[in-house]
Amino acid sequence: MSTLASLEKTALAELGACADQGALQAWNTKYFGKQGEVTLALKKVGEVPQTERPAFGREANRIKVALTKAHDDALANLKRKELERSLTEETLDVTLPGRPVQRGRLHVATQVLRRIYAIFADLGFQIYRSREVEDDLTNFELLNMPPHHPARDMWDTFHTETPGVLLRTHTSPGQIHVMRDLCPRPIRVILPGMCYRYEQITTRSEIMFHQVEGLAIGERVTMTDLKGTIVAFARRRFGEERQVRIRSSYFPFTEPSIEVDMDCIVCGGKGCSLCKRTGWLEIMGAGMVHPVVLRNGGYDPAKFSGFAFGMGPQRITMLMYAIDDIRVFWANDLRFLSQF
Ligand code: DAH
Repeated sequence: MSTLASLEKTALAELGACADQGALQAWNTKYFGKQGEVTLALKKVGEVPQTERPAFGREANRIKVALTKAHDDALANLKRKELERSLTEETLDVTLPGRPVQRGRLHVATQVLRRIYAIFADLGFQIYRSREVEDDLTNFELLNMPPHHPARDMWDTFHTETPGVLLRTHTSPGQIHVMRDLCPRPIRVILPGMCYRYEQITTRSEIMFHQVEGLAIGERVTMTDLKGTIVAFARRRFGEERQVRIRSSYFPFTEPSIEVDMDCIVCGGKGCSLCKRTGWLEIMGAGMVHPVVLRNGGYDPAKFSGFAFGMGPQRITMLMYAIDDIRVFWANDLRFLSQF
């Protein structure tokens, strides 16, 4: 009985000295493992003389229960202390602002194109996609420029190693594709997309740029319809007060051909640095579709007529935001792109 009493005493003292869960684990093994002291004491019950056995057995069991409880309490106590420590030491300030997520955005060229699409959609124009890799036939010949026609000088061209295959120099060959696709139905489309020219890259000229072509074909389409469309576009895009001026010009695929100006968006026509003191900004080339082009598209010029126009959205964007270098559009400099 006295061995039992001292066993309990030492066990409790040692338990009190356990500072962490590892020590508690070792303590548990020492007293309750296979060869543990409490385990062994319980095994000894049989060896105790008959008369003392019940009392010894009861005491040994009591100690077993008491020490188990003391161990579980100590373990719970340690766990609680550990939680308190992590709560106070590893503080998490949930009121701190979160890390901002970088928002992407559309490239300014895409934004401008979409504005233009929206305006022409309002005017009843559908968007027609046409290829960027073209053949000489469609880029030039079917647009009324036979080989060696001097007008080809207006378009410096990237030729591929396959004879007759080139990168389109303008969106106008799309006119041929859409006409052959839809003939003899009436047409009212815009043809947007990238064009390529073999040019010296300067602040004013790039080797790649967008164009938005327009084409309307029907039985009584006139120059008046062209004028009305251009004026409606200019006013929706640049303000209701815009004035439009038309000058005669030359393109092989239109007859007559015109160049379209609008009054300067900065000075309203008085003359400033943007419009180079002229009061006018050039916004597009246009004209009535040439009979040869109509015929090449499958339309009988005696029955059908049409108008076409072509504009460069980068040029227009430069005017709007006073951008003085066209190279910034494809230079991928975030300092420029993130301003839009
Ligand atoms: N394709 C011409 C260019 O690249 C622009 C143009 C002018 C298109 C007159 C047209 C047009 O459809 O009618 O310079």
